[in-house]
Amino acid sequence: MNDAKILIIDDEQSMCQFMEIMLQKEGYQVSSDTSAEKAIQLANKGETSEFDLVIADLMMPEMTGIELMEKVKKRQPDIDFIIMTAFGSVESAIDALKKGASEYITKPFKVDEVKYTIRKCIEKRRVIDENRELRRQLSESKGLSKFIGNSPQVEKLKEIVQRVAATDSTVLITGESGSGKELIARAIHELSPRADKPFISINCGALPETLLESELFGYKKGAFTGAGKDKIGQLKAADGGTFFLDELGTTPQSIQVKLLRVLEQRELTPLGGTTPIPVDIRLIAATNSDLESEVDAGNFRADLFYRLNVLPVNIPPLREREGDIPLLAAHFIEKFSKKLGSKQKRLSEAALNVLNNYQWHGNVRELENVMEQAVLLSKNDQINPEDLPDKIRGTGGRPPLPESAEFESSPPPLSVMEEAYILYVLNQTGWNKAKSAKILGIDTSTLYRKIDRYKLKEKAKVE
Ligand SMILES: Nc1ncnc2c1ncn2[C@@H]1O[C@H](COP(=O)(O)OP(=O)(O)OP(=O)(O)O)[C@@H](O)[C@H]1O
Ligand SMILES: [Mg+2]
Repeated sequence: MNDAKILIIDDEQSMCQFMEIMLQKEGYQVSSDTSAEKAIQLANKGETSEFDLVIADLMMPEMTGIELMEKVKKRQPDIDFIIMTAFGSVESAIDALKKGASEYITKPFKVDEVKYTIRKCIEKRRVIDENRELRRQLSESKGLSKFIGNSPQVEKLKEIVQRVAATDSTVLITGESGSGKELIARAIHELSPRADKPFISINCGALPETLLESELFGYKKGAFTGAGKDKIGQLKAADGGTFFLDELGTTPQSIQVKLLRVLEQRELTPLGGTTPIPVDIRLIAATNSDLESEVDAGNFRADLFYRLNVLPVNIPPLREREGDIPLLAAHFIEKFSKKLGSKQKRLSEAALNVLNNYQWHGNVRELENVMEQAVLLSKNDQINPEDLPDKIRGTGGRPPLPESAEFESSPPPLSVMEEAYILYVLNQTGWNKAKSAKILGIDTSTLYRKIDRYKLKEKAKVE
């Protein structure tokens, strides 16, 4: 534990030598100098940062030890100082402490006392450093570090999240399915002043209306058959923290009214209750539907929409974030290789090309699933295009229909159109033949025949 580095500054050479020998015996790395100026030069060059502790004499010709300390601390505020004062000068000892010294030593001193004081000082510093490191590690695993990506779109998103997190306003997260809305909601919570309070989420689309209502607001004993005792709702359970309303677009109207009240009055009434109870929550809502058109269609209350849409955060679809796919793919390969206990696999250039060209309508969740499968299926250390599902390797996207100009001058034969359209539908459904046949309005056996006739299986593969 004694690998600490100490600098001794005392105008008396003999004192420097004595301290150096004593402290070296203790196992410290010690340097000394008789000039306070020398210490300032070191500080100005940033070299004092190599030292854990400076022990300086109070009375020196160039400047006092306290003046030296103040100058050095200007460059390096967290360095520890011990000031050596003359016996009996309690006032200057107190002055040194007030001005930032960690300890003082009175001369003449007892060797054991000095050793003890120095050890105490260094141990304290070590604890502080360790705490700082732990806090750093903790904050790294939280917040935005789990949100992989460095495309300009993601950098911008992260910036917005950081700004939004510092406020207490309601946030509305929009983005396609699987784009990371929940991840962003958690990051906002973890970066907010409410981070050490609960984060509770409810998927409004997953529960039937009555259950959703009792889950959110809680109930009083006897509110309905089966309500044997009072139950606190999830909104109240999140008191002090953040509440995440997931898939908000599907919330029934009756619950929308009640949510509006929570937002406006900051209180709620449990089912079967008569008196409202106060709630202190920050609300984050997420939706993958276009809420504004839901408002226009009369399915979503306009007043609630405007209350929720105070700070909008939009997550762009994966296909629009250039450069994020390789990072995310690598991240998931590492994750699933670890999970399987296998060696970390590598993504071949060709496989990466396939990933980059796919449309990813299921966004990051879809990529995550594809990479899990690929890690499982690949037979060696490399993930090749063959290890990716057919759907991903297909052309995907728009049907390769001729351009309209070309079309006017010489319309393509029906068979060309048919072939292109069937391939398009197959790619869209992930080669689900029953589904494709239904969309195409033909029966499955006809579809199988057409797949054979046009050799679509071979054409779906990326060369
Ligand atoms: N940028 C990202 N970095 C790492 N993992 C991500 C990222 N975005 C999403 N994921 C992962 O993808 C999956 C889907 O993310 P999430 O559940 O947050 O999406 P969502 O937008 O809430 O989807 P849905 O609309 O279907 O509810 C999760 O496993 C999540 O951890
Ligand atoms: Mg979600």
